[in-house]
Amino acid sequence: MLVAVKKRFTPKVNLKNGETQWRNHVISVRQFTREDLDEVLFPASEKMLTMVQEVGKVGFLSGKVLACLFFEPSTRTMSSFFTAIERLGGSAIAINNVQFSSVSKGESLRDTIRTLGGYTDAIVMRHPEEGSVAKAAECSPVPIINAGDGKGEHPTQALLDLFTIQRELSSIDGLTVTMVGDLAHGRTVHSLARLLTLYEDVKINFVSPASLRMPAEKLAELRGQGVVPRELDRLDNDVVAESDVLYITRVQRERMTEEEKRIDNPFIVTAETMAHAKPKGKMILMHPLPRVGEISNEVDPDPRAAYFRQSEYGMYVRMGILKEILRSE
Ligand code: NCD
Repeated sequence: MLVAVKKRFTPKVNLKNGETQWRNHVISVRQFTREDLDEVLFPASEKMLTMVQEVGKVGFLSGKVLACLFFEPSTRTMSSFFTAIERLGGSAIAINNVQFSSVSKGESLRDTIRTLGGYTDAIVMRHPEEGSVAKAAECSPVPIINAGDGKGEHPTQALLDLFTIQRELSSIDGLTVTMVGDLAHGRTVHSLARLLTLYEDVKINFVSPASLRMPAEKLAELRGQGVVPRELDRLDNDVVAESDVLYITRVQRERMTEEEKRIDNPFIVTAETMAHAKPKGKMILMHPLPRVGEISNEVDPDPRAAYFRQSEYGMYVRMGILKEILRSE
């Protein structure tokens, strides 16, 4: 007798409402509550860190296969998902050489997702179009994790960013977080700002050139959540001095028109900038990476420079997410 192909997964609620349980699909940081972070994800990530340091690998997800479907370049996100599943005893396949012109058009993306869902247990997806990952999730037979949808969101990056802040500065409540650079196109800052609204008394500064400001609808959403961000067009010494977290981003030239691309990177953090910042233990300098000149290499030995620790924490946080998503199946 033939064995029926098991239907592994049924999305439980309408994705468009942003109400999908994150253990089904991770599309937006809107799906996470403070309890999810404090009681589930951060403790799980901390355990993963200890486990990796003590034994390197466990078998929790043995037999599970992850697909990494990337229509845009990636170093950290892709390799940290790969290492995360491997360290949990599973394995991964990479589909990252696709000609996205042929799959970005509705039906064929659906077909790619349906096909990969037949081979694997979850799909990590990055795509240049905002909203594309939510669309893919609607037809996916397995959980989908958003690894960046255009200038939309990058939820797992924001989760690892918050884990970094919590770990390095002990608490997130009451902090002043200054995001600097291309706030118009940077999906990491869009997700991070949204996620920070889960915390008490967080002050947000947005520093960008006028043409790269945080989009109006995102500002309105933050105001609706009770956060009133301060917008500045210069990284003055007093902003540096009041920041507990200085979060630098690169100019996302690939998302710009030819005209816009001419913009120079207006903010460069040097040792001189850091001379105005709070001392070690009281502030951190973050960057989702890749950096292309926004932070001078001379800053790297500064103990407040947290960006390489931040990218390492990404693997532990992604291990925590994968374990939560895949172990319940
Ligand atoms: C970011 C991204 O892809 O959005 N990188 C990352 O995932 N760490 C930031 C960027 O590309 O500038």
